[in-house]
Amino acid sequence: MAYESFARKYRPKNFEEVVGQEAVVKTLSNAIKLDRLSHAYIFAGSRGLGKTTIARIITKCLNCEKGITDKPCGECENCREIEKGSFPDMYEIDAASNRGIDDIRSLRDNVSYAPIKGRYKVYIIDEAHMLTREAFNALLKTLEEPPPNNVFILATTELHKIPDTIRSRCQTFIFKPPSKSQIKEYLKRILEKEGIQYDEEALDLISKASEGGVRDAASILDQAVIYGSGEVKKETTQELLGVIPEEILKGFLKNLKEKNLKELVKTIERLDREGYDLTVFWNQITERIHKDLVSLVVGENTEIFEKEDTELLIYANDIFKKASLEARSFNDKKDIYQLAVLKLRFIKNLVPLKEILEKGLPDSKPIKKEEEKKEEAFDLQKAILKIGREAGGIISGALKNANIKENADSFTIMVDKTVSDLLNDRLDVIQKYFPKPVIIEEIEIKSDRKKHKKRDESVEKVLELFEGKLIKYEEE
Ligand SMILES: Nc1ncnc2c1ncn2[C@@H]1O[C@H](COP(=O)(O)OP(=O)(O)OP(=O)(O)O)[C@@H](O)[C@H]1O
Ligand SMILES: [Mg+2]
Ligand SMILES: [Zn+2]
Repeated sequence: MAYESFARKYRPKNFEEVVGQEAVVKTLSNAIKLDRLSHAYIFAGSRGLGKTTIARIITKCLNCEKGITDKPCGECENCREIEKGSFPDMYEIDAASNRGIDDIRSLRDNVSYAPIKGRYKVYIIDEAHMLTREAFNALLKTLEEPPPNNVFILATTELHKIPDTIRSRCQTFIFKPPSKSQIKEYLKRILEKEGIQYDEEALDLISKASEGGVRDAASILDQAVIYGSGEVKKETTQELLGVIPEEILKGFLKNLKEKNLKELVKTIERLDREGYDLTVFWNQITERIHKDLVSLVVGENTEIFEKEDTELLIYANDIFKKASLEARSFNDKKDIYQLAVLKLRFIKNLVPLKEILEKGLPDSKPIKKEEEKKEEAFDLQKAILKIGREAGGIISGALKNANIKENADSFTIMVDKTVSDLLNDRLDVIQKYFPKPVIIEEIEIKSDRKKHKKRDESVEKVLELFEGKLIKYEEE
């Protein structure tokens, strides 16, 4: 027998089995009990929250052979046909592929006929926001003069795209994602019915990853069972979801505390090699740092950090967050993250606050000497050469013509607007060959003589690089 996904197998057959959506369920089942069902509804909400499911339950409530009820039997022929999707009085229309006026016209013609088998005809219009304007207008006519024994349910993930004229003639329900614990209960119920072993933590991970989508939760569970060879264990689920094991996160933070930069770089390398999603890792680390920093600031020690680490965390928080932003537009995230870690090297005089308070300002000579030596040894021309080899002549040309200023703990490269983007794009390479963090600053080059000369030089440079000829040169 073909494998049936959990979402399909456990699609709720009645209101009681629906996860969350308490308000929707309560209102609808009361309306059915009191015979006050409206002839048109809008079900709005993100994917996989039960819009289609509830529309089908309503169809059953109205057409169950045992009579109109909020607890359809699920066993009569009508109930079973509705569950299978083959009931002749239930029309499921996908507006995404039937969005035109002709489709709605044929629906309108249909509306005047009596139901074939049941008491009510139910039209479920999925992705209703995709209908064309003409189709909406045609639909509006039908909604304005509702023929008896027809119920319209417009399901949509984008309520704002449904015209007001339509909305004012429908009762709208907003479907909200169930809570994590509701999703977890739902997953548990499935696993218990299936007799599958599981870890609580694994279910926590899945409910978190589903972001409130019930269908999503069920299909992650499908995968987790397969991946875990018939069991849902914490470790395999972590692997499946690319969650970084707690020990690795903790190890990283401990090495951060010890400023063991080599280990930090190595961890990033290893995670990358083992196929973890580095963005996920980096987000988790920055989140932790931020949280721990907040704790320290309000005077609480954390599991790993103490008050004396406050400054370190302030720097790390800043540097790591910048790296997150930068990484968004780079393919090689690993480089960015490793570089960010290396930037911690430049946190000079990171002396525990406590020590400063006890002993006064520290004698930082040894560190400083080393730094000075490094600074002396830094050869800008050589660095530019190396950058050129890696990033190309345009970049090194731009650097040669740039105004580069060395600051206490950074370099500022001042360039014209026209090249700053270019340099920013290759900042990863540039940074590699500078011993301190590099900041690219845009400056406006005004038309004074000296600047002209500079411009001329860079034009020369480009010409030389491309063995070109100057055809036209416009001054600003
Ligand atoms: N509230 C819920 N309770 C229990 N199961 C649900 C719920 N919502 C969704 N599901 C599960 O997800 C599957 C898809 O649900 P359904 O088709 O009703 O979602 P939908 O809201 O119509 O999504 P879409 O916008 O993608 O059409 C169902 O088969 C069911 O197993
Ligand atoms: Mg649906
Ligand atoms: Zn029935």
